[in-house]
Amino acid sequence: MAHLFWGGADCVQLVERFGTPLYVLDETVIRARCAEVRKDFLDRWPKSSASYASKAFLTQAMARIVEDEELGLDVVSLGELHTALSSGFPASRIEMHGNAKSEAELSAALDAGIGRIIVDGLMELEVLAELAARKGRRSEILLRVAPGIAPNTHAYITTGQEGSKFGLPLDGDLLPQAVRKALEAEWLELRGLHFHVGSQIFEPEAHVRSVVRVVSAMRRLKEDFGFCTRELNLGGGFGARSHPSEPHVPLSLFTDAMMQALVRDCAAGGLELPHVSIETGRWIVSEAGITLYRVETVKELPGVNYIGVDGGMADNPRPALYQAVYEAALANRVDAPLSREAKRMSVAGKCCETGDILIEDVRLPSPRRGDILALFNTGAYTFSMASNYNRLCRPAVVLVKGGEAEVIVERQTPDDLLRGDRIPQRLARKGANWERGP
Ligand code: LLP
Repeated sequence: MAHLFWGGADCVQLVERFGTPLYVLDETVIRARCAEVRKDFLDRWPKSSASYASKAFLTQAMARIVEDEELGLDVVSLGELHTALSSGFPASRIEMHGNAKSEAELSAALDAGIGRIIVDGLMELEVLAELAARKGRRSEILLRVAPGIAPNTHAYITTGQEGSKFGLPLDGDLLPQAVRKALEAEWLELRGLHFHVGSQIFEPEAHVRSVVRVVSAMRRLKEDFGFCTRELNLGGGFGARSHPSEPHVPLSLFTDAMMQALVRDCAAGGLELPHVSIETGRWIVSEAGITLYRVETVKELPGVNYIGVDGGMADNPRPALYQAVYEAALANRVDAPLSREAKRMSVAGKCCETGDILIEDVRLPSPRRGDILALFNTGAYTFSMASNYNRLCRPAVVLVKGGEAEVIVERQTPDDLLRGDRIPQRLARKGANWERGP
């Protein structure tokens, strides 16, 4: 029976070496995506830069690939910043986001001298201005705005709509107030604006409409304060196909459309074209990744057959959170004919939740206990969102390139779950073992 190969490596052998569940990432695909960013965006538009949004997937090895591919890195927490800096990633190419940054995070960003801090609101601006002055550390900042446009995606992953918790609304008082304060802050240099409309988006309309609205705001800021937006960060959110119902979208579908609108509207408004940047996470890493599971059980019920696997919402919460859809194959017999059974087949995770269904309706050969099930397109927002729910251990992450596989994150062990777990003295076991009943 034919086996599935990923990045040139035999998935059955990967499972024999590294166990299941297993995240497998193909380095060649990640690098090809980075090259596409250079070719279709950076080379096409002279004043431009691009970052990888590390929340999609970050380990030290990933940071090394991103650095090697000459992209910047977007981080949102002390943990992401620490991972990046520990890998040796140049601080000047890091930008920090977040709608509720702590003083510790802002402080670490200033101390490391990262390239940009994207300020999300007035209160953060005050804290940062004070902190930068106290430390005597200069910082270049962008103000995040919410363009008030809702893209066509799951409601939980829209970010730039009206009433969003992210950024400053374009209309009203908050943005002008923030610009005024930022211009007054001695240790801060306001370079421009940032917006991000949402994630897993397949059409460019929301991005383009946001550009149009943001350019109008840039015009008002110039008229009211003489403030010239020298930089504009267009965010990310470009979709990655994880199911036949979704299209494969080239990056240029978004970037060309946004840039054309930007060039046109800046010219019409008498504004100089700002330096533009993008920050894309899923689009770079999602399709490079698969997750390999072992089939533990097949349960045949009247309306449905459940394929129970040894992972689930703990290693991939996306179906439960966003009704995300995935495709799968049996990696140990990829050429077996598909089941002819009319009954629905669902891939069930092993967590104690009815909602832990990885795929509601899958087409596969009739599965057997011991089969290896591969879920495709799991490179983004799986490992980075994984939990230890039900005290499940986090899977290992393996990076493959040209058939060679290396562990970049070790599999957790039950002992790892006890790291930091403490029993208060008053609960310590005393003397003889506790015995059950009479
Ligand atoms: N920039 C900012 C400011 C962001 O908030 C995000 C994602 C990105 C860039 C990158 O978006 P991407 O290109 O990866 O779509 N956990 C969700 C996705 C949440 C994304 C949040 N922000 C999921 O699994 O679908």
